Amino acid sequence: MAEPIRVAVTGAAGNIGYALVFRLASGEVFGPDQPVILHLIEVPPVVSRLDGVQMELDDCAFPTLAGVEKFDSDHLEDAFANCNWVLCVGSVPRKAGMERGDLIRVNGPIFTSTGKAIQAAAADDVRVLVVGNPCNTNCLIAMHNAPDIPRDRWYAMTMLDQNRAATQLAQKAGRPVADVKNIIIWGNHSATQYPDFFNASIGGQPAPQVIGDDAWLQSDFITTVQKRGAAVIEARGASSAASAANAALDTVKSIITPTDAENSFSAAICSDGSYGVDEGLIFGYPLTSDGNSCSIVQGIEHSAFAQEKIQATLDELRSERDTVKDLLPG
Ligand code: LMR
Repeated sequence: MAEPIRVAVTGAAGNIGYALVFRLASGEVFGPDQPVILHLIEVPPVVSRLDGVQMELDDCAFPTLAGVEKFDSDHLEDAFANCNWVLCVGSVPRKAGMERGDLIRVNGPIFTSTGKAIQAAAADDVRVLVVGNPCNTNCLIAMHNAPDIPRDRWYAMTMLDQNRAATQLAQKAGRPVADVKNIIIWGNHSATQYPDFFNASIGGQPAPQVIGDDAWLQSDFITTVQKRGAAVIEARGASSAASAANAALDTVKSIITPTDAENSFSAAICSDGSYGVDEGLIFGYPLTSDGNSCSIVQGIEHSAFAQEKIQATLDELRSERDTVKDLLPG
């Protein structure tokens, strides 16, 4: 067996955390030969719930689980000490009727201390995935508060949108979801995101050709994906949890596994200026991985329709950045 890696999860006793940590412990993500030590983190009022999560983890007897350590969020440097991955799940969730942007001033300050503590304590090779909303801008805040950590280590989650979009296309086409490739989410994990159906394929054919209904693609498809989070909140009375956890794990797997040539994946990363996006914004792009680091897929052509959508999500991210500029040192 390899040396254990340490994986921190904030909000580990919450709904997403509970759906996440067992799968992290099981070997599903890092493989059957990679032991994992979980650092479970919660806010002080509910930190005792981690005792129950730990008991259940123990009761699973996962051979890959090499340890469980529990922390309250007042001690983040201890919590992130030597961690190779930090999954920032904890944040105040959106309630019915709120837009994700409404959360920005509530959750933003949490991510200044998160960034500082990651820089102070995490392992040299740390990678960070922000799930808590508004995840792009929370990631931006944490990254700015950890200037010594290379900018290619920061990710915000758009995989949930990708998975939603893939299923919408598959169901419309009457095809298995595994046939859908390269369905990429551009921009913000919000109602302005752009799910790029033009460049997606279904069974090796261009998605628009297989679907044969451009009006649906340009309207219902996009709005269904953009508003799916709100629809889940409305239907469930709580924000998506199992599907969000699943997407977080899909993101980590996509980052650590060499990408198959035909299938890029979605995550928001620190822009290098590709596709006219401001350098430094955390923007959803098509990515490929060599199993260690990720690259933005270049050379994708966008129609005027797509350019307009990408501009809208870029403008939203610029305005989110302006809203939190006092939290962005450097
Ligand atoms: C989601 O997309 O389901 C989550 O980001 C929760 C939300 O507020 O939409």
